[in-house]
Amino acid sequence: MKKIIFTGKGGVGKTTIASTLAKLLARDGRRVLVIDCDPSMNLAMGLGVPLSEIRPLADAKKAIGERL
Ligand SMILES: Nc1ncnc2c1ncn2[C@@H]1O[C@H](COP(=O)(O)OP(=O)(O)OP(=O)(O)O)[C@@H](O)[C@H]1O
Ligand SMILES: [Mg+2]
Repeated sequence: MKKIIFTGKGGVGKTTIASTLAKLLARDGRRVLVIDCDPSMNLAMGLGVPLSEIRPLADAKKAIGERL
């Protein structure tokens, strides 16, 4: 499994590059897991996920606690 982390100062294109790379890898048949750690998240929207379907991981706090 390869892991790629995008970090850096604000507005330099992290989300744009992450979403584009994820789409290209998935298009090539790779299994891709994308995690947005930005409290002001917009990566899912960059991937084309409708706003109504976006569920912040923090909403699953109880389930996460049970599994850790
Ligand atoms: N290579 C590029 N050329 C021109 N504009 C770009 C490029 N990459 C990103 N942008 C634009 O720059 C802006 C910021 O990009 P993006 O949101 O991807 O940055 P970010 O690093 O994720 O920002 P933040 O730190 O706020 O999360 C967006 O409007 C995006 O469309
Ligand atoms: Mg961003």
